[in-house]
Amino acid sequence: MSTKEMILILDFGGQYNQLIARRIRENNVYCEVHNYTDNFMDLINKLSPRGIILTGGPQSVYADDSTKCDSALFNLGIPVLGICYGAQAMAYALGGKVDTAAVSEYGKTDVNFLVDSKLFANIDLNESSVVWMSHTDRIINVPNGFDITASTVNCPIAAMENTNKNLYAVQFHPEVVHTVEGYKILSNFVDICSCNRNWQMSSFVKDTINHLKTKIGDKKALCALSGGVDSSVAAVLMSKAIGKNLTCVFVDHGLLRKNEADEVEAVFKNYDLKFIRVDASERFLNKLKGVVEPERKRKIIGEEFIRVFEEQSKLIGTVDYLVQGTIYPDVIESGLGKSAVIKSHHNVGGLPDFVDFKEIVEPLRLLFKDEVRQAGRELGLPENLVSRQPFPGPGLGIRIIGEVTADKVKIVQDADYIYREEIAKANIKNIGQYFAALTNMRSVGVMGDGRTYDYAIALRAVMTSDFMTATAAEIPWEVLNTVSNRIVNEVKGVNRVLYDCTSKPPATIEFE
Ligand code: XMP
Repeated sequence: MSTKEMILILDFGGQYNQLIARRIRENNVYCEVHNYTDNFMDLINKLSPRGIILTGGPQSVYADDSTKCDSALFNLGIPVLGICYGAQAMAYALGGKVDTAAVSEYGKTDVNFLVDSKLFANIDLNESSVVWMSHTDRIINVPNGFDITASTVNCPIAAMENTNKNLYAVQFHPEVVHTVEGYKILSNFVDICSCNRNWQMSSFVKDTINHLKTKIGDKKALCALSGGVDSSVAAVLMSKAIGKNLTCVFVDHGLLRKNEADEVEAVFKNYDLKFIRVDASERFLNKLKGVVEPERKRKIIGEEFIRVFEEQSKLIGTVDYLVQGTIYPDVIESGLGKSAVIKSHHNVGGLPDFVDFKEIVEPLRLLFKDEVRQAGRELGLPENLVSRQPFPGPGLGIRIIGEVTADKVKIVQDADYIYREEIAKANIKNIGQYFAALTNMRSVGVMGDGRTYDYAIALRAVMTSDFMTATAAEIPWEVLNTVSNRIVNEVKGVNRVLYDCTSKPPATIEFE
């Protein structure tokens, strides 16, 4: 990977940290998120960052057990931007004062930018602007050498800077879309760091292939191929690096969408790589018998996956490496840093403690979804595969609320197929993800002259660019009506169809 020009994001456990990384990458500057530790010099020596961003976080600098920032970080001559807790940590480390605010600020707030700062270049300083605040503590005295550069009614020091040392701090969150000038502020910081904005996917692809070649040499690797964008891109990257020493194993866990297993096989049969399809549906269903708790389901599916791979690898011979298509949001949402665990995505947090491979290789671990799609195009994968909507590793297992049974899998597969067919017929293109889920609610209906007591299907469709936040898509009523009619008529066991209008947050995209 080209690390010539990168920004290092030091994580204090805030919920928006992945968005900071996203915004920096949107500026064509490579960045990585790492937990803040006192050994930060090791990272700095390894990565030679052009700039450092300190993230927000849930702690208070005054708490005994909170993570304090070493003042040495601010004397390296590298520009630093502190955000929220990162701003307070900077102030505290350099002799400023932080205290609990009389009024916590949460949500949209009007800010006044006070100074013609490099951080606020191209922003109209005569107008107040909306920023997103989320804090209890605040800076009440700036350290020596700092100027106050922005303020709000409840937070007189909403931003500060020491231009001689290239140190900047904002109490608000520029990475959140609600901060109107947030994108400009982060882009200005990229300029302060003298970054040339030349990070490109083609260099990522080339560097990753070279890196994998060196790392794996003539050893064998097994790729967990699901047929989704992520694992397909990971597989093709690996195959370019190690050729025939890669075997791709596609596990049909019986929780795939209707006809999906055959479709995946058809695509990869055309590629010059070893492809094995394993039918493991029964074994997954047996393991899931009686299990209703979502996290437990995820762990079981994750573990069973690994066991199937281990068995396959023994059949192939000595396999040292397991390749997975894990991407950055999976890593972050699985609670890598100090952020709360939201869901353990099965290809990361759901791994069992013991995995019988020398190492797991995750070539896309640092990429966001749209970057993975770009990498896929660079590698020449077909557009219908590259632009495919995401499908979770645990598959329909987390789209069936409660216990998973063969009958329920059939119901959700058929309903989902109808939904996808009608969306395609209506030529609706801009939805980020859409699917049917089976609720575990049964209710009374009437069909013909008889009473029914059947399941309700929930339809979900979301608009999203990064899958970290999403809003419900406004599907035309005629389309929903057709889907609903077809499902209750064609899918046995369903007598009611509901549409989910919730955004993320507070809901997640999947139901479990
Ligand atoms: P949530 O439900 O967390 O989903 O809002 C965000 C995105 O992640 C996908 N997802 C998963 N992908 N393994 C995966 O590979 C998983 O366990 C998993 N859970 C959710 C989900 O489909 C959406 O695109």
